[in-house]
Amino acid sequence: MTFAEAGVSVLGLDAIQSKVDAVNAGTSYIEDVPSERLGPLVADGTIRATTAWDEVRAADAVIICLPTPLTGHREPDLSAVLGASESLAERLRPGHLVVLESTTYPGTTRDEVAPVLERSGLRAGRDFHLAFSPERVDPGRTDWTTATTPKVIGGLTPECTRRAMDLYGLACETLVPVSSPEVAELTKLLENIFRSVNIALVNELAMLCDRMNIDVWDVIDAAATKPFGYMPFRPGPGLGGHCIPIDPFYLTWKAREFDLHTEFIELAGKVNSQMPEFCVSKVVRALNSRRRALNGSRVLVIGVAYKANVNDMRESPALRIVELLRAEGGNVEYHDPFVPSLPKLGLSSIPLTPDSAREFDVVVVVTAHDGIDWQMIADSATLIVDLRNAIPSTDGKVWRL
Ligand SMILES: NC(=O)c1ccc[n+]([C@@H]2O[C@H](COP(=O)([O-])OP(=O)(O)OC[C@H]3O[C@@H](n4cnc5c(N)ncnc54)[C@H](O)[C@@H]3O)[C@@H](O)[C@H]2O)c1
Repeated sequence: MTFAEAGVSVLGLDAIQSKVDAVNAGTSYIEDVPSERLGPLVADGTIRATTAWDEVRAADAVIICLPTPLTGHREPDLSAVLGASESLAERLRPGHLVVLESTTYPGTTRDEVAPVLERSGLRAGRDFHLAFSPERVDPGRTDWTTATTPKVIGGLTPECTRRAMDLYGLACETLVPVSSPEVAELTKLLENIFRSVNIALVNELAMLCDRMNIDVWDVIDAAATKPFGYMPFRPGPGLGGHCIPIDPFYLTWKAREFDLHTEFIELAGKVNSQMPEFCVSKVVRALNSRRRALNGSRVLVIGVAYKANVNDMRESPALRIVELLRAEGGNVEYHDPFVPSLPKLGLSSIPLTPDSAREFDVVVVVTAHDGIDWQMIADSATLIVDLRNAIPSTDGKVWRL
């Protein structure tokens, strides 16, 4: 979208025909890209999509933004990136610029992607150009866009970096050239690990504050008044999305090759992954204060997406929370304007009204989407466990994380 809006002709290649058809019909399947923004660019021919690899021959530059998940054994799964690199190698031509944007461990571009592309008989850095440039989008965010977020770029050679800068300079306002693809790859991991570790720090503090009967949210707000040397992170029910819970383990895996255990990453993962259990224990205690057991209680979960204002359910801690509540006999329903149903759990979002909120033994706020009437919930629910500091009330019926 950002390239097309800068007037660059864009071809999108995907393995899934229905996505290609949707784009060619001017219909966006990505939540924070409205069809009204996509449609005109498709209509005037600036954006087109295809499943046909042969079409990449005509492109001047190829940007790879494929998924980089973990395998069942929590090891990097580069199969999509390397499979695409093989398909690309068969069509590579002299002068092509190839940029990898998928989040990955340092060394992927040089040691994994380049050798596959060189099966074409062409040499990286000599016959074609190769660089890494991390994707830094934060879905749902509007104050920083792909065009305005500085773009880090590391080429295999200085000429590769320069060529990649020429490309991104067409659409991005600020370019940040770095000395190698490895620096660019590790930059992205540092950014995500920084978030994971700092979220774990405040999650641990939230568990301590719970025991000490101190309001962790007040502590964080007060600390955030320091104008230097501090940046606020908020506790929550655990990490979600496909980046923060996954990407740091790309580095853990790579570090083992160098006989180093990345303890901060492991520790943060451990602390963050125990948050759903802690949050459910809080629900149990809240019900207990009313002489009720979770077993048999009606529980309304508000917000199940992994973060506010998106419909993304990947790795959402809400799923684990619902499972744990059910395992203890809770009768769980949920409300989420962004997620109409959870087929795996056999649940559909229920309407939220003062009457429906009142019917439940406890309301658990897991994700605080904008537009939910928190005051109405504060007024009508009988007992609330607020994991996001969303409820504007300090009434005794509100249990805050
Ligand atoms: N989405 C984000 O907010 C975000 C932010 C920063 C970094 N990233 C990184 O960007 C990369 C891509 O993430 P995403 O969220 O766009 O992933 P995604 O799961 O949405 O996948 C992107 C597309 O790749 C297609 N695809 C999968 N395998 C394919 C193949 N072999 N050939 C052709 N198409 C194929 C899928 O159909 C999908 O449309 C990941 O490395 C991710 O970590 C994503």
